[in-house]
Parts: sequence; C-alpha cells; structure tokens
Amino acid sequence: MESNYNLETRFQERIDREEKIEARDWMPDKYRKTLIRQISQHAHSEIVGMLPEGNWITRAPTLRRKAALLAKVQDEAGHGLYLYSAAETLGATREQMIEDLHTGKAKYSSIFNYPTLAWADMGAIGWLVDGAAIMNQVMLTRTSYGPYARAMVRICKEESFHQRQGYEILLTLCRGSEAQKAMAQDAVNRFWWPSLMMFGPSDKESTNSAQSMKWKIKRKSNDELRQQFIDATVPQAEILGVTLPDPELKWDEESQHYNFGEIDWDEFWRVVKGHGPCNEDRLKARISAHEKGAWVREAAVAYAAKQKEIADQKAISA
Ligand SMILES: [Fe+2]
Ligand SMILES: [Fe+2]
Repeated sequence: MESNYNLETRFQERIDREEKIEARDWMPDKYRKTLIRQISQHAHSEIVGMLPEGNWITRAPTLRRKAALLAKVQDEAGHGLYLYSAAETLGATREQMIEDLHTGKAKYSSIFNYPTLAWADMGAIGWLVDGAAIMNQVMLTRTSYGPYARAMVRICKEESFHQRQGYEILLTLCRGSEAQKAMAQDAVNRFWWPSLMMFGPSDKESTNSAQSMKWKIKRKSNDELRQQFIDATVPQAEILGVTLPDPELKWDEESQHYNFGEIDWDEFWRVVKGHGPCNEDRLKARISAHEKGAWVREAAVAYAAKQKEIADQKAISA
C-alpha cells in the first residue's frame, strides 16, 4: 500500500500537469469534501435561483418575454441537475444534499435572498446576476475535477443566453418611456451591490482560497473575478444609459481597471447568515416544493421497480 504522502504528492503532480481528476481516481479527503461542498452549494444556487424569477413568469409583459423567461428558469433547473449529478460522482447522495439545504446547513448564493419587485428586475438579474455567475463559471470550465469542468461547459453556453436576454430587457426599457427608464434604473440600483457580493469575501478574508487555487479548483481569486466583472460591466451600463450606484466608480488609467467603493460587508454577512430579506421565504418555498413532489419520486421508484421485475421475469423465462 502506497503511503498517503506519496499519493498526495502524485495527486498534486497530476494537477500541476493539468490532468483532470476523475471520479474513480485517488484524491485527498479534503479535496473531495471541498468539491462536494462547492458543487452542492452551486447546485442549490441554481435551484433556489429559479424562485425570484419564477415569480414573474405569469406577469411577463409579452408572449416572447414569457417564453424566454420560462426557458431561462428551466435552464437553471437543468444546471442544478447536472451539478447534483457531478456531486454524486464524489459520493454525496441527493437526499443528504437536499436535507442539508432544507435544514440550512448548506448555503446557496445570497443574491437569491433579495426580492424581485418589478419586471425590470428580470433584466437586472439576467444582466448582472447571470453576468457575475458567468465570470465564475467560465473559470470553472477549467477546474481540476473532470465531471465539474464538463458540466460547466454546457452551463456556460446557456448562461450567456441568460445574460443577453436580461440585457435586452433593460435595453428595451431604457429606450422606452420615462417610467420604464426609472424602473430599469431602480432595478440596477438594487442589484448592483448584491451582484458584487456574489464573488464572496475579499481575498484577505477568504480562508479556503489558497488551497483551492493550489488544487486548481479555482484559478482566479474572488477579488480578481470581481474586478473583471466590474471592468466588463461598466461600459455596458453606459450603453444602456443607466448609472451604477457607486460614486467612487472611476476608470483608473494607471491600473487599467475601474476603482470602486467599499462593499457593505455587514450586509453581506447578515444575508449569508440567514437574515436577508427573503431567506425564510426561499427555504419555505423549496421545502414545500419538495414535499409536494414526494408522490412523483415515489411513483418513479415504483415504476422503476416494476420495469425491473418485468425484465427479471423475461430473463428467467428466456
Ligand atoms: Fe445557471
Ligand atoms: Fe443563469
């Protein structure tokens, strides 16, 4: 039996050579645990993320908008399923992951604990929230764990559709009446800062980051990704003609980046710890959907058992 020291050294060498780690490969326990936590958290975010937008499907202003929003929300369900499956390859069970979400043990992205108050919020979410998610997810297409990286490739294609449909909603509103412009501006004002918080605590505070970078689970730090998002988004705001609610936002010639104001980290931690405007509602909605769906799961299991019985009988009589 090889010593753990050797196994870990060889594991790191494979990562350094840019080899993908696959489900059956040896991996340090902490690598497995970190990935299960991260992937399941990501899966929960996709599923809980359906709630704020699902709220607007019946109120979309046109049939075209309704079809696009419906497709987008369905995509998010699909993302959740790919990700739960990716976490299962590491030995996590679906039941345990769902249980951890429902009991509050597992987290999901705090952005979904903010309410969607107006139609323009669908635009702001697509543009800013999916836009911020893409920054993170494009990086994850190159993450060291194979099943996670491959799930991300497909997810990213769909995310760019989400971002564009959001931007187009805002573009239409910004070219519309004064009231429509004001609605778009208000949505951007409410979602700007929470979107920046999606990248997580600053690098000085982020405890797991160094190890995740070494294992190439992450390839860019929270602050790097946040800066990249801001740099890409400010010019898009200019095209829309909306302002971003940060008086300190300013292009810096020297660094070739935008400078920006201080994030309200008290608010960030408050929402992470369960005290955001919608934390309770979101969990209630998830638990209720899970309970109401129990008969579907039971019927699927009963059907699978029946099919197996028929197949077994055929095999015996053959
Ligand atoms: Fe998604
Ligand atoms: Fe999305």
